[in-house]
Order: sequence, then structure tokens, then C-alpha cells
Amino acid sequence: MLINTARFVISNSSVRKCPAESRHEYAFIGRSNVGKSSLINMLTGRKGLAMTSATPGKTMLINHFLVNDSWYIVDLPGYGYARRSKDDRDRLEGIIKGYILNRVQMTNLFVLIDSRHEPQRIDMEFMEWLGENGIPFSIVFTKLDKQSATAGQAKIATYLERMLETWEELPPVFRTSSETGLGREEILDYIEQMNKLPLQTI
Ligand code: GTP
Ligand code: MG
Repeated sequence: MLINTARFVISNSSVRKCPAESRHEYAFIGRSNVGKSSLINMLTGRKGLAMTSATPGKTMLINHFLVNDSWYIVDLPGYGYARRSKDDRDRLEGIIKGYILNRVQMTNLFVLIDSRHEPQRIDMEFMEWLGENGIPFSIVFTKLDKQSATAGQAKIATYLERMLETWEELPPVFRTSSETGLGREEILDYIEQMNKLPLQTI
């Protein structure tokens, strides 16, 4: 799929205030600093579209970006950033869960996982929660450029094996690098296919 236009529309602290139209919408979630905002910039080919930062915890709101004047990308706050107050963490969790459980336009949630790390309990539990709530999601391994291809493959294989201990089948899996553009075509093609499906009536 070609990206002709991509523009920031609005930031919100609650799902109730998100754009009301019936458009397909794809949200990106994962631990703080995993590379959500960078991936959105890579996919859209617009470097400064979503704000990125070397310090975790940059994205604090639900951010809507309209692509090709027809569908939305949503940048969500990261979870699991320990150096926040309990109140802030609870508030962010409320924003994230409120969005995921109530946003009928959300056609797919992309869950980002840093490809360099061993499986983390917080991600596993989050995906189990998605499964319990029937939320359609895919896994996106990020930062593949930060290790050799062999090391990356081995890490991902281990990760998926671990998932198969609790999951009967795996969701779609993407391998990406926001530095090199790895995985861009695959994710955009996947979105293009889902854009063709009828949207749940709102
Ligand atoms: P929060 O909004 O804080 O939750 O973070 P985020 O998940 O949006 O991460 P962000 O895109 O801001 O990236 C965090 C850091 O990782 C930045 O310094 C990015 O430059 C770097 N980064 C993200 N993706 C990649 C990648 O694919 N390769 C490399 N080498 N660095 C990356
Ligand atoms: Mg971000």
C-alpha cells in the first residue's frame, strides 16, 4: 500500500473523546520505549509525525493520525514504565484499557515486543488479558537492526515457543526495524487487507 498522506488529528485522555467516525483504526501498544512512535513514523514515512524519545514514557495520550484520508493509526502510551508514580501508572492503565475495551473501530492492535529481550511477564500477562477479552492483536518484534540476523531469529523463535506454552495458536507475527524499514511492506499489506473488511457498525 502506498502512503500518500498522513497527518496528526487529535490527542485525547479518554476513549470517549476519540474521533466518532466509522473508520478502520490500528493501534500500537507495548512497553515504554519499545519503539511504538518510531514504528508509526517508519510505516507512514513521516519522520516527525509521532513524537519519539530516548527517555521512556514520552507518549501519555491516545494519539490519532489519519492516513490517506481514510483510516487511522493510533499511538498509545506505553505500559510498565517503573519510574512513574502509582497514580500516574493507574491513570495510564485506565486510558489504555478504556481505549482497548471500548473502541469498536479498532480493527487490530499491534503489540510491540523488543526483539532483544527474553519474554517479559508484563507482556505475556498483557497478551493473556487481550485474549480473555477477545481483542484481535498481532505481535510486532522491534529493533531487529540492533542485533545480528541470526541472534534476532533465535530470540524470536524462543519467544514464540514460550508463547505456545499457553496459546493454542499464535497471532500474526511481524519482524521490524524502524531504522532500516524492515517489515514495513508486510504490515502495510496486512492493514490493506483488513481495510477491505466491513467495519463493525457503530
Ligand atoms: P513511549 O512513548 O515512551 O512509550 O516510547 P515508544 O515505544 O513510543 O518508543 P520510541 O519510538 O519513542 O523509541 C524509543 C527509543 O528507541 C528512541 O530512542 C528510538 O530512536 C529508538 N528506536 C525505536 N525503534 C528503533 C529501531 O527499530 N531501531 C533502533 N536502532 N532504535 C529504535
Ligand atoms: Mg511513544
